[in-house]
Amino acid sequence: MVHAFNRDTIMGSRLEGKVAIVTGAGQTPGETIGNGRATALLFAREGARVLIVDRDMESAEETAVMIRAEGGECTTLNADVTSETDCRAIADTCIDTYHQIDILQNNVGIGFRDAGITKLLEEDWDRIFNVNLKSMFLTCKHVIPHMRERNAGAVTNISSVAAIASTGMVAYKTSKAGVMALTQNVAMGNARFGIRANCILPGLMNTPMAIEGYARSLGQPREQVIADRDARVPLNNRMGTGWDVAFASLFLGSDEARFITGVNLPVDGGQSIRIG
Ligand SMILES: NC(=O)c1ccc[n+]([C@@H]2O[C@H](COP(=O)([O-])OP(=O)(O)OC[C@H]3O[C@@H](n4cnc5c(N)ncnc54)[C@H](O)[C@@H]3O)[C@@H](O)[C@H]2O)c1
Repeated sequence: MVHAFNRDTIMGSRLEGKVAIVTGAGQTPGETIGNGRATALLFAREGARVLIVDRDMESAEETAVMIRAEGGECTTLNADVTSETDCRAIADTCIDTYHQIDILQNNVGIGFRDAGITKLLEEDWDRIFNVNLKSMFLTCKHVIPHMRERNAGAVTNISSVAAIASTGMVAYKTSKAGVMALTQNVAMGNARFGIRANCILPGLMNTPMAIEGYARSLGQPREQVIADRDARVPLNNRMGTGWDVAFASLFLGSDEARFITGVNLPVDGGQSIRIG
């Protein structure tokens, strides 16, 4: 698996003293790094203590091993973010372990078995909405009271360019548009408590969920999926990586972004401005 980044050995301090929750910080198995794992690793490199949340514990533990191998500090938690009980446990575990929550990175998202409007099954619409949108309502519901107590905090929700671009995946698109609306609501409702909330809209990323996932569902070789997606990206005709989402997340989670709230930041190599 490729998880190296060419600044691997540089440890910074942009999140020194902070505690971050990263949901979906494991990843779909594959050759590249996922958005959540890259973000958890980068947060730890920059000094944050990280609560790694995933429903796939094996994958969460892999992320933890990588962080600890670099000298970072983290704890893993097995949780399904569609369950309110589990989301309460996420907040409680973070407080019990680290006594504060500075950053909530809502990264979990899926598109498996999505389809067009006449083909999509009701159960798949419900599942995708629960995982992509309800989950973020639930984690915010249980984490934000702790942030309010300290009059500080940063919530970063991972939406998608699919929310504003054309795609055949109706549940993914509409759930990710819901993430943008939820984020605005959280930002406005919590600004007076010093809590910021922002969205990242990744475009075409070279992560295993996308590449190995599409290769499997389309029955195409990986290389073809990669070539087709690369060709659709204006900037250098090349997809982004999990690190691109991680660096945007690092900025939004850090005090460098202390006057930024309620924004939707595309991380997409220009895909969202390709109109006409
Ligand atoms: N890869 C892309 O091209 C792309 C583009 C736009 C947006 N995104 C978004 O980026 C985010 C991460 O994508 P990725 O490609 O790194 O995916 P990934 O599949 O590698 O990582 C997602 C992780 O979430 C976990 N997860 C799934 N459902 C869960 C649940 N109910 N409870 C707890 N954990 C759960 C999975 O086990 C996995 O480890 C998603 O929100 C996705 O929609 C990705």
